[in-house]
Parts: sequence; structure tokens; C-alpha cells
Amino acid sequence: MAVIAPSLLSADFTKMGEEVREIESVGTKVLHIDIMDGHFVPNLTFGYSMVKALRPVSDMIFDVHLMMTNPLEYIENFAKAGSDVITVHTECDSDLGECIELIHKCGKKAGLSIKPKTQPEALFPYLDSIEHILVMTVEPGFGGQSMMPECLDKIAAIKSECASRGLRIPVMIDGGVNASNVRMAAEAGADMMVAGNAVFGAADRSAAFRELSERSEI
Ligand code: DX5
Ligand code: ZN
Repeated sequence: MAVIAPSLLSADFTKMGEEVREIESVGTKVLHIDIMDGHFVPNLTFGYSMVKALRPVSDMIFDVHLMMTNPLEYIENFAKAGSDVITVHTECDSDLGECIELIHKCGKKAGLSIKPKTQPEALFPYLDSIEHILVMTVEPGFGGQSMMPECLDKIAAIKSECASRGLRIPVMIDGGVNASNVRMAAEAGADMMVAGNAVFGAADRSAAFRELSERSEI
């Protein structure tokens, strides 16, 4: 069964604390938090003060996805705010080795993400020093888009490279996951899946979360 990580981007922004409590009560263990800088992607979300405000409300793993041009400048603040996993993009302008080192120095797990047009090989130089991989299945920037299923093919290449090095790094996919494609994604090898609209947008979030989890069982 894959780990389903609801994305805060699809929550009701007028009541974030309540939304986080509610989503934890349905059995969520990992909360995906999308940080957009209006530069790396054409959208803005929230900053580390949101992570800090929500930290006392929840015991969930805070999986922070930095869609930022210069994540290196903000890693320490996101770490101090209470992130557990901090993921940066291979396509950003910061030095990736420095980002990973700083995330580890802050005592957090380091993730690397690739956009749909980026080949999995971009991750390979860093595989020995990261704990999390995020494969985008939509162009980052907005929730509620349709999955690009061709992106799922990258998972096999990543996993085979990891296996050849004796590594077991969880691969998470992000974008457009829903009840109709969750099984296909699990079959492609996704260990974890972000689900924004499919969970927060559902009338019965608990049922939606359960359905996605169950359908990902292969
Ligand atoms: C997109 C974000 C995603 C988004 C997913 O740029 O990185 O995490 O919240 O939302 P859905 O599941 O609705 O596509
Ligand atoms: Zn994301």
C-alpha cells in the first residue's frame, strides 16, 4: 500500500489549523506542504511561518516541497519551523550539494524533485546522499491538474539505479493523483503519492483517503 500524503495546497485557507487536525484524524501520517516563490513557478503559496504555526497542531510528518529558485537561502528557516523532510528541485539555481548538506546539518531528511521534462538521470549524482525522491506528474505550480502518466515511467529507471547501488529511497509522485489512476501509479512503483484535490476536495475526506490507500495496494 502506498503512503498517501494530502497536500495542504488544496485545504481551506480560511481555517488551516482545523484542516490539518481534520486530515490527521482520517489517518494521514504525511502532510505535503507546497512552498511556491512566484519565480520558480508562476504562483505563490505560503512561507515558513505557516509551517511554524501548524507545527504544534500536528504530529504528522511535514513533507515540505520547495518550489523555489533559491531554496538554499530558506532551508534553515523551514527546518527551524518544524519541517521533517525538505525537498528541493534539481532545476533550481542553488547548488544541490550545498542544499542537501544544509538540510542534513539541520537534522532533516533531504529530498530531490524533478519536473516532468527533467530526466531521472538528473537525480543520479545525489542518490547516495538523499532520503526522498519526488517525481512531478504535473508541471508544478497549481493543484487540481491532470496527471501526465508518461512521467510514471521514470520511477522504474530511478528504482533500478537505486537497486544497483543497494539503496532504498522512497519515490513519491506529485500531481493529479486520483481514484482512477492511483493503481496505475502504484504499479509503476510509486511508494508515496501526494493527493491534493482528491482528498481535500472530496465531500467525505476520510472515505477518499481510505479509497486511495486501498486502491494503491498491489
Ligand atoms: C503542484 C504541487 C502539488 C499539488 C498537488 O505544483 O506540487 O503538490 O498540491 O495537487 P493535486 O493532487 O490536486 O494535483
Ligand atoms: Zn508538491
